[in-house]
Amino acid sequence: MSALLGEGKTKLVIEAGEERVLLRFKDTITAGDGVKMDILRGKGEVNARTSAVLFSKLMEAGIRSHYISQYDERTLLVRKLQMIPVEVVVRNVATGSIVKRLPIKEGEIFDPPIVEFFLKDDRLHDPLLNADHLRYLKLMSPEETEDVRRQALTINKVLKNVFEPKGLRLYDFKVEFGRTGSSLLLGDELTLDGMRVRVNGTGEVLDKDLYRRGETLERVMEAYLRFLKVLSS
Ligand code: C5P
Repeated sequence: MSALLGEGKTKLVIEAGEERVLLRFKDTITAGDGVKMDILRGKGEVNARTSAVLFSKLMEAGIRSHYISQYDERTLLVRKLQMIPVEVVVRNVATGSIVKRLPIKEGEIFDPPIVEFFLKDDRLHDPLLNADHLRYLKLMSPEETEDVRRQALTINKVLKNVFEPKGLRLYDFKVEFGRTGSSLLLGDELTLDGMRVRVNGTGEVLDKDLYRRGETLERVMEAYLRFLKVLSS
């Protein structure tokens, strides 16, 4: 048996040699800092596949990440990173927490996109961080913050280019980075748990907002499967 290195709300991290780990996606779906939680049968497989497809698209566009390959139906083989407990959010369209925090209306367009940093800490409800906070808390140097910001904006461009021809609109997404040697690399996952994707024109929601809003688990699964199908077509 390989050693379990860590377990989050939706994934297990399993040792796979000196420099590699396996990310095993669970069927759990959570919202509100883990206060709301359910089992969504098959979600682990859908999210592992979605991540594999999206990391591969980024790779094709020249963006490096921890992704190596899909190991089995619900598991990815990735490079081991020292993860930084910061969530980097890129926003193209205003919705979610930003319209609650700031005098910004739902649906406003951000051009250029807005990048935000949040501390990954459920107990503190993931507070917003600026570059000074990141430096003071020794999370990222100002140079690293700028590097991550640039990488996040490039990822945004590539994802938009993947989604738009398929009739999908990327409202926002969250990414996480980790250290390997002296560089910062994109890690974690790229799934509908951490990005808002809507059908262009109708505005139909395909992402975890369905779950946050109390839609049935069946509807959530339908949306996740539909997104993966469109993505793979
Ligand atoms: O809630 P908020 O509007 O700040 O979320 C912005 C984006 O980041 C959304 O796509 C959301 O799914 C994602 N997110 C996440 N994990 C969190 C908070 C937000 O993946 N803890």
